[in-house]
Formats: sequence, structure tokens, C-alpha cells
Amino acid sequence: MPIKKDKILSTSINKKTSSLMDDFNSSIDVDQRLIQEDISVTRAHVDALFKLGVITKSDLAKINKGLSSIQKDFDQKKIKFTKQNEDIHMNIEFFLHKKIGDTALKLHTGRSRNDQVATDTRLWVMKSSLHLQNEIKKLMKFILKQASTHKDTIIPGFTHLQVAQPILLAHHLLAYMEMFNRDLNCFDFSYKGSDENVLGSAALAGSNYSIDTNLLNKKLKFTKSKENSMDGVSDRDFCMYFLNACAMNAIHLSKLSAELVLWSSNSFGMFKVDAEYSTGSSIMPQKRNPDSLELIRAKANIIRTKNIEFSNIISGLPLTYFKDFQEDKRIIFEAYDELLICLRVMTDVMKKSEFEKKQGLQICNQYFATATDLADYLVIKKNIPFRNSYKIIAQIVNFAQKNKKILSDISLEEFQHFENSINKDIYDYIDVEKSLYRKKTKMSTNPKLVSKQIDKYSNLLK
Ligand code: ARG
Repeated sequence: MPIKKDKILSTSINKKTSSLMDDFNSSIDVDQRLIQEDISVTRAHVDALFKLGVITKSDLAKINKGLSSIQKDFDQKKIKFTKQNEDIHMNIEFFLHKKIGDTALKLHTGRSRNDQVATDTRLWVMKSSLHLQNEIKKLMKFILKQASTHKDTIIPGFTHLQVAQPILLAHHLLAYMEMFNRDLNCFDFSYKGSDENVLGSAALAGSNYSIDTNLLNKKLKFTKSKENSMDGVSDRDFCMYFLNACAMNAIHLSKLSAELVLWSSNSFGMFKVDAEYSTGSSIMPQKRNPDSLELIRAKANIIRTKNIEFSNIISGLPLTYFKDFQEDKRIIFEAYDELLICLRVMTDVMKKSEFEKKQGLQICNQYFATATDLADYLVIKKNIPFRNSYKIIAQIVNFAQKNKKILSDISLEEFQHFENSINKDIYDYIDVEKSLYRKKTKMSTNPKLVSKQIDKYSNLLK
């Protein structure tokens, strides 16, 4: 009995699937986003089929023309994918059949949707890793610009959110440059981990046709093929690498946004979020809320959970392909979309907002940020063991707090009351700016070394 024409691409046997199942089973709403990758993969595949003699030159031309026309229809929003055709792969084949007739029926020779979808997804992750790297670099550019502007702006460095020691704002911002630079490396890893062509694995056991995998790699710009077809169709580790990179970047964005929210509060007064990225309150006229940063903080924490969501899908699955994998794409797309907008907003916030120049210095003075320098003064100049000098300075700070003084308000006589060898060179060690220049190690906040770091990153981002 000849097969009915409208059934020719259907994967259901004997009985039609219920419409509820069609809805449930289909992924077209999500995976149509892979249309470009799927068409590229199919173009490479038909080149290989032509080389094998499975299709003729005129078949090849017809198929390629049909694929171009599908892409064009899609770009012009003229195509209406259906859930009955399940996913992007079946939909494209369906429309190709409609456009070029039975030549399209040769398309799926020697391959499976299992190797097809894995390859499409790898191409998408490679493309998206590069794209996110670019966005991170843009953010880094504006963080670096702020660092250059604030080469001599002094702020308190905190531990436990308590004023600890004076640092340069530039030094603080450069710490984020380090984090974002590591994120670039994570996305490198995600790119490289995806760079294995799965085509040739077919359903799971490999193809019955000696498809030229070198040709496929060349066409699709993969550097190599998978070594094992079963790993080929079931490996989704590359998505985990991608989501891990997204999570790391999101963690860094959430730290930065949380910090800036804090700094923009009245109590800190160290940062002013640009008006374009803050909103007023509907009731309190004096308010300026850093909503943009609060949203980045929340969204970043959602992105961070995507790798857990993903690992829940792949963990515990025996080999090889299961429909479970169909749920993978939604997760990586969501992570990408949310991360992209967070990066863009953070970049613009960094570009347009202002750090306060004076507030940090005042906080340093008010909260004894150079107390450690004073302890070191007694070690270096007076040969007092550190544990003892620490105790002496603790007493001095106590005294100052009780008498509502800052360190520079304390007279020499008062100092000498705690340690009689102290002389007036102690005031040098109270000075916040001098504290910075006293730092010796290469990773320190010494302004000379911070300048070097700024130069390093300007070269790196060129
Ligand atoms: N839409 C499917 C997915 O995303 C394509 C692969 C279908 N393979 C299969 N054996 N049913 O995973």
C-alpha cells in the first residue's frame, strides 16, 4: 500500500498522535531559534551526500535553493511552523518537501535528528559563547574607564562590611576586571568544549554511509569530530560548560550590583546610579532607587541556577538519546537571554553613572582606616613586636572613639600616653594617601602598581 502524501514525514506509526500529545511533544516554539544552525548543518550534510553520490548535482542545487527560500520566509515572518511537525528539524524538512517536492525525501539519508540536534546546539553554544565574550569585553571597557578616571580616588576597603583599610577605587574596580577576565576564559572553555562535530553519529551507532566528516567539519568550522557516536548523541556536557560560564559571570554581576546598591544608599553615599537607570518611588518624592542594579542582582541569581536545572535533566540518564534532551535548549536560551540583558544594562550603568570622589576619604578618616599603618609604624620605627603594637593602637582607637576624635585629632602627648617612644612622624602614618604608597607587594593598592594594572588591561582589551 503506498504511503499517503501527508504522512510521508510523520514519525507516528498506525495511529495519529493526539493533539494533546502534539502540544506536549513539540519543541518548535523553542527550537525554531536554531533555524540558522539547522540549515547550515543540512547544507553541509547534503554536500556530503552529493560527494557520496546519494544525490545528484541538480538535487543538491534544488535542496539548497529550497533551504534559502525557507530562511527567507522565516526572516520575513512568512513561515508558520506547526506543532504536528514537532521541532525545527521536521518543520524544515516538511517545508522543503512542500517547496521542492520529493527530492526533499532524500535529505535525511545517513543521519538522524539525534546527531543533527546535538550539532545544531553545539554551533549555537559556540556562537553564543563568542557573543557573550564580546559583551563582557564591552563591560570591562567601561569598568576600566571608571578605574582610569578614579586613579586617585580613595575609598575604604571593607572586610565583614566594616571599614578595613584605605584603597584606591581603581584597585577595587580592577578586582572586577580580574573576575570578568576569568569569565572570558570560562567562555573559551565552553567554546572549545562545544567544538566537536557530532554528525556521522546518526541515531547512535554511526552512519551506514561513509559520510566525509572532514568535509562536514570544514563546512561547519568545527576543528574535529566526535570520537564516539554514542557519546556524540548523548553528550550535553558542553551545555554545562556554557551554563557554568554563565553562572560564573552572573555571580560576578550579582556581586557588583549588590555592592553598587549598597554604595548608592544614603549611608554609604559613594555611588550615584545614573537617572536613566534608576526610578523614583510612587509615594516618596525624595527617593532614587537603583532598580537596574537590583534587577541584575535578582536575575543573576536566577541565571546561576540554570546549570542546576540543566544537570537535573542529564544526570542519571543511561545512554544514549532520550526525549529528555529536548528540554535542554530552553534552559540555555533562557540563561543566554537573561545574561545578555544584564550585561548590557550593567555596561550602560557603568558608562553613565558616577562614583563620588570625596566621600570615601572621609569614611576612611572617620573610621580609623589607617589603624593597621599605625601598628606597622610601631614595628618599623620603634622596633615593637607586632602583637604588642596591635594592642597599643587598639587602645588608642578606643580612646579616640570615646572622645569622638579621629586619629589626626589626637595630640602627640595623648599618643605618648599610650607609648612614650611615639613621636611626630606618626602623623605620616595616619595620612590615608600615604598609606597607599606604603604598600609594597605587586598586587597591592599602591597607586604606581594600580596604574600598571590599568595599562595591562587597556592593552588586553585593545
Ligand atoms: N526535538 C528533538 C530534541 O530536541 C530532536 C531529536 C529527536 N530525536 C528523537 N529520537 N526523537 O531533542
